[in-house]
Amino acid sequence: MAIKESKASKLTSALKPGKAPASKPAEAKADHATPLLDARKAGQEATPAMLKQAAKDNLFLHFTRHSPYQTNDIPIIAKAEGHHFWDINGKKYFDGISSLFSVNVGHGRERLAEAAAKQMKKLDYFPIWSHAHAPAIELAERILSYAPKNLSRVFFTTGGGEANETAWKLAKQYFKMTGKPMKHKVLTRAVAYHGTSHGALSLTGIPSMKKMFEPLVPSTFRVPNTNWYRAQDDFENEEAFAMWAANRVEEMILFEDPDTVAAFFIEPVQNSGGCFTSPPSYFKRVREICDKYDVLLVADETIDGFGRIGTMFASEKYGLEPDMLVCAKGITSAYQPLGALMMTEKLFEPFKHGTNIFSHGYTFAGHPVACAVALENLDIFDEEDLVGNVARNEAAFKKTLEKLKDLPIVGDVRGAGYFYAIELVRDKKTRESFNDEESEKLLRQFLSHHMYDNGLYCRSDDRGDPVVQLAPPLTIGQTEFDELEQKLRHSLSIAGEMFELM
Ligand SMILES: Cc1ncc(COP(=O)(O)O)c(C=O)c1O
Repeated sequence: MAIKESKASKLTSALKPGKAPASKPAEAKADHATPLLDARKAGQEATPAMLKQAAKDNLFLHFTRHSPYQTNDIPIIAKAEGHHFWDINGKKYFDGISSLFSVNVGHGRERLAEAAAKQMKKLDYFPIWSHAHAPAIELAERILSYAPKNLSRVFFTTGGGEANETAWKLAKQYFKMTGKPMKHKVLTRAVAYHGTSHGALSLTGIPSMKKMFEPLVPSTFRVPNTNWYRAQDDFENEEAFAMWAANRVEEMILFEDPDTVAAFFIEPVQNSGGCFTSPPSYFKRVREICDKYDVLLVADETIDGFGRIGTMFASEKYGLEPDMLVCAKGITSAYQPLGALMMTEKLFEPFKHGTNIFSHGYTFAGHPVACAVALENLDIFDEEDLVGNVARNEAAFKKTLEKLKDLPIVGDVRGAGYFYAIELVRDKKTRESFNDEESEKLLRQFLSHHMYDNGLYCRSDDRGDPVVQLAPPLTIGQTEFDELEQKLRHSLSIAGEMFELM
């Protein structure tokens, strides 16, 4: 085993399905009070206090521990501009992860609001089910023009998870229609996140996220990711490690029988676990393996796409030609929900004939307003050369973040473009990580609050080892890098002192 100590126990320990939570039996809410509706009807604005209470009373937030919100307020975000946002109390924050790796052009772009309004007035909505509309047609051509040249067809969705779901279903159907009906299994990488629907969650390699929803869709298998920092020392260099990791893909295909394996999903830079990059030779080898066994290679660029890594798509940076490419988030800079799956013509070919149909779709996929906003968003990319801005500044971003390596708690700084992770360790020399309890204290009880109170919004996470992640809007430069570094230095220094690290 070439990856140090499996994180499986840590990943699965967070949830204990056998234990009932120690809380009173749930009571139905006494009434359906509607203070916000009442204020609206009276032509009054809801006060912050009213919103805070109504948020507690009515919302079920995503990926959220709700227990602290039984006593504390839920943070409510009121407005945003550029790389900042403000909460309802008027406090200003640096948006260090583009809200959710999404707002690539930055907040508050009026022209995107205008593009949405213009489209709504012309054609508010029509499904792309047996019909088309100009915004979807134009956007399909536009994103294909940025994609690897082998891709030539677009299936729209409303987000990244749906696009992954679509890719797997398409792979299964494609092989059924082309004489290889047994091909249905998929390989994905350890600790990778691909979405939350049953299919996309089955692709996900994070046990703690899946446990409560088992049994999931069968036939998914995990191969190692390219976490070079946690690779064993017996590799000569990163290239050798990456080759080892790529060869595990072949091994797994053979373990499972190539006749049954349909696809392999990878993020060119893997988010979950902390911005794992790979040398181009990894992608070359993986491509060779997939070609050898007729396994479709799917690049999940939900985060990596749209300039995040310094090229429009990360596949371009690494010389990867996937059979399918998933994108979302930055396609509209999150001003509207949208995702897309691009594919080779080979995968579309069977659907050109007879009564064949891909019985799959979503009401809001390729929504005309979302597509119109995406087009305007991409105009901003072009006019402001945002991808060029990342390419020109990525070395400076890396250099600035690497200054943090002088702190005893910072073990590794890794990533590409404007997408970086800082791995936190207990012991720099041995790379010893924090145990579950310490990690809980470090990330949830201290760091995320401290950074936020200090006006920095970024992600601290331990789906693999503890990391802080950054993915700022693509508009920023050295002045903002320095500000980020200073804010991180402040919080990480105190975190180090908390654990008496030297
Ligand atoms: C790599 C990757 N794939 C898929 C998804 C799921 O995307 P969505 O939330 O739009 O369904 C995400 C979300 O962050 C992601 O990072």
